[in-house]
Amino acid sequence: MLTGKRIILGITGSIAAYKAAEIVRRLRSLNAEVWVVMTRGGTEFITPLTLQTLSGHTVYTETFALQEGSKITHINLIKDADLFLIAPATANIIGKFAAGIGDDLLTTMALAARCPVIIAPAMDSDMYDNPILQNNIAQLKETGCRFIETEEGELASGLVGKGRLANIEVIISTVIDLLVVKKDMAGEVVLVTAGPTREYLDPVRFISNRSSGKMGYAIAASAKERGAEVILISGPTTLQKPAKSEGIELINVVTASEMREEALKNLKRATIVIMAAAVSDYRPVDISPGKIKKSGGNVSLDLTETPDILTEIGMDKGNRIVVGFAAETENLESNAMLKLKRKNLDIIVANDVLDPDAGFEVDTNVVTIIDKNNEVTPLPRMSKKEVSYRILDKIAKIANLKRTYSRA
Ligand SMILES: Cc1cc2nc3c(=O)[nH]c(=O)nc-3n(C[C@H](O)[C@H](O)[C@H](O)COP(=O)(O)O)c2cc1C
Repeated sequence: MLTGKRIILGITGSIAAYKAAEIVRRLRSLNAEVWVVMTRGGTEFITPLTLQTLSGHTVYTETFALQEGSKITHINLIKDADLFLIAPATANIIGKFAAGIGDDLLTTMALAARCPVIIAPAMDSDMYDNPILQNNIAQLKETGCRFIETEEGELASGLVGKGRLANIEVIISTVIDLLVVKKDMAGEVVLVTAGPTREYLDPVRFISNRSSGKMGYAIAASAKERGAEVILISGPTTLQKPAKSEGIELINVVTASEMREEALKNLKRATIVIMAAAVSDYRPVDISPGKIKKSGGNVSLDLTETPDILTEIGMDKGNRIVVGFAAETENLESNAMLKLKRKNLDIIVANDVLDPDAGFEVDTNVVTIIDKNNEVTPLPRMSKKEVSYRILDKIAKIANLKRTYSRA
C-alpha cells in the first residue's frame, strides 16, 4: 500500500517511545521506506540499534554528522521524504517546533520539511492540558501540521486522562489516508462551478464579487485525483488554468446566464454537481453598447435578478448528488440549513465570509458541512485543498449510502 513512499519517523523522549518500534514494523510491512531520527531523549527510552534493525537504515541522531561523505543530514534526508511523522512527540518537541527552534537534528529537520508533517503527541495529562501546549498545537495546526489526537486512559505517571499516544492502528491509518490517494470517485462525473460571474453595464464596467475561484478549483483537482471525470465551469479568475494533461474539462464563462447555460448543458453527464461559484444575484436590466459617460449628478442602476442555477438543478436533480455553498455573514448554520431545504440539496457547505481566514480570496477556509439528514460537521481552519477533500469524503459517504439503498 505504501510502496515507494519515504517516511521519516521522528522519535522523542516519551515513555511511549517503545511503541515506535511497532510503528516502524507496521509501516515496513506496508512496503514504506522508513528512516528514523531520534532526539537524545528518545534514545534514553529505546535504542537506535532496535530501530536500525527494524527500519533497515542507519538511525540518525546528530545534527553535525555528515551523511555519505559530504551531505548535510537534515536537508538530505527530508528533501525527498513523502512524510515526516513524529511519534511519540513530547511537549518539548511540540513547543520547540512551534517556536521555530532547531537545536537538534529532529527539530532542524522539522523546520526544513516541505512534506506533510504528522504529529502524534504523548505525555502526562497535566502536561497535555497545559494551555501553553494547547496553544502550541493550535499554532502548528495553523501552519498545516496534522495532529493525531491522544487517547484517554491510564498513563505511565499514574494519572488517568488524555495524553496517551494514539492507538498504533489510528496512526497507521492516518498515514495511509494522507499518502494513498483514494480512488473512490472513479466512475463519477463531477460537474464543478467556480469563481465569480461578471454582469456588464457597458463594455468596460461590470458587477461582480470577491470570489477567487480557489475553492472550486481545489474541488475539481481533488475530484480528479480521486478518479472522477471532471467538468469545471469557471467564471473569470486569475488562477492558473488546469493543464490539459490534468484531464479536467475546463469551460470558461463570464456571466450568470452563460454559467447557467453551460451547467444545464453538461448536467446530463454529471452524477455529482458541486456549485462553488459565486454567481451574481443581480444583473443590469440594460447593457449600454457604448461606455456610459459621466454626466454629473447621481446615477441609478436598474437591476434584475439572474437565474438561480442551484435551485433549477436542485429541482431537477434526479439521482445526482447536488452540493451548494452558502456564504453567510450571520446565522450561518440556520441560514445554510434553510438554503439546503429550499434548493433540494444533498449537502451545503457554509462559510462565514466575514472571517478573515475563510471565504473569498484566501487560501484557507473555515466551513461547516451540513447534509440533508441534518448532520452538521464544523471543520477547523484548513487549506481549501483539505476542505475539498472533506467535502468529497462526505459526498462519497452519501453516494455509498444511496447505492446501498438502491440495491436493497
Ligand atoms: C521517565 C520519563 C518519561 C517521560 N515521558 C514523557 C512523555 O511521555 N511526554 C513528554 O512530553 N515528556 C516526557 N518526559 C520528559 C521528556 O523526556 C523531557 O521533556 C525531554 O527534555 C524531552 O526531550 P525531547 O523532546 O528532545 O525528546 C519524560 C521524562 C522521563 C524521565
